[in-house]
Parts: sequence; structure tokens; C-alpha cells
Amino acid sequence: MNYNEFKELVEKRYSVRKFEDRKVEKEKILEVLDAARFAPSAHNYQPWHFLILTEKDILEKVQSTFKPQWFKAAPAVIVALADHEKSWVRDDGKDHSDVDLGIIVDHLTLAATANGLGTCWVCAFDAKKCKELLELPENVEPVALIPIGYPKYPTAKNKIREDLETMVSWEEYKK
Ligand SMILES: Cc1cc2nc3c(=O)[nH]c(=O)nc-3n(C[C@H](O)[C@H](O)[C@H](O)COP(=O)(O)O)c2cc1C
Repeated sequence: MNYNEFKELVEKRYSVRKFEDRKVEKEKILEVLDAARFAPSAHNYQPWHFLILTEKDILEKVQSTFKPQWFKAAPAVIVALADHEKSWVRDDGKDHSDVDLGIIVDHLTLAATANGLGTCWVCAFDAKKCKELLELPENVEPVALIPIGYPKYPTAKNKIREDLETMVSWEEYKK
């Protein structure tokens, strides 16, 4: 893949909130995770686990932890889990699992786009309720819910982003 192809992929990825009424093949979801697992992590501790929900009962339960209606229409949800017993903790106490999860979930969303699928990060869910519903152990935190399916619209319409000039400074911090 050359730079232009990579840039096309990252520009194509967007937060999909409208899915086709169509199941996603399990193999396709596994392909996406098979690419995502090459993500870097602090100390290579890989403090993550991905719980894939496709069956109606459990899917509906987890979908109840995030209210917007569009979320109920996702044919599958991947729960991105951080294992705090596996994550790297810096000397000052900062647990890096959020950083590691951010990277792998980004890999996942890009791999999904490359595979014709749409995803959306969801963090505004009731994490406490989700943890209870899924009977997760104490050390395991649901960090994000990732609905995944075939997007109704395959390409982003309009991506509003800061300009490169305002995002970057050289040699000295300037804002
Ligand atoms: C850490 C994180 C949390 C997010 N949480 C939510 C969320 O709870 N609900 C939602 O609809 N979108 C959520 N988003 C999606 C953002 O709104 C979206 O990425 C942003 O508006 C940029 O749009 P784009 O993804 O289409 O490029 C989240 C994104 C990130 C990275």
C-alpha cells in the first residue's frame, strides 16, 4: 500500500451510525481483528480482549447501555475490554491501557473500513451496567462499544478537522 492508498483509507473511515439490515459474516469480523492485533502496546503487554456480540439476547442487553436509537440497529457489537492486570503502569502510576486500547481500536476501525464494514466508537455508554450485564471480572473494564456492520453509506460525507498548521508546531509549542 502506498501513501495515497493509506490516506484514502483513513479519509474513508468515518463513524457509521446507519447500517444495512444485513448480518456480518463472522469470518469478516475475525479478519478485522486479525489485522488489529498487530497494534503496538506499551511493553507489548497487549492488555486487551474483544467480546463479539451477535446473538439477539445479549446484543439487546448491551445495546440497552447506550440510548441512541441508531445503536439498536447495529447487527453486531464488539466490546473492547481492557485488562488492568495486564496493562503497563508507568512509575508515576499512569495505567496505559486506555492508550493501548485506543490504538488497537483504531486499527480495528481502519481494518473494518478496508473490509467494506462500518464502525463507530461508542464511549458514552453505561460502563458500570455493561460490566455487570457481561459479568466481567473486577480487573476487566469495558472501554468502548464498537457497533459493526455494512454501512448504509460507504464513504464519509464531510470530515471536519483542524488544519495542519493549527495542529502542528515545530521546535517550540505554539497554539
Ligand atoms: C474515544 C471516542 C469516543 C467516542 N464516543 C462516541 C459515542 O459515545 N457516541 C458516538 O456517537 N460517537 C462517539 N465517537 C465518535 C466521534 O464522535 C467521531 O469519531 C468524531 O465526531 C469524528 O467523526 P468521524 O469518526 O466520522 O471521522 C467517539 C470517538 C472516539 C474516538
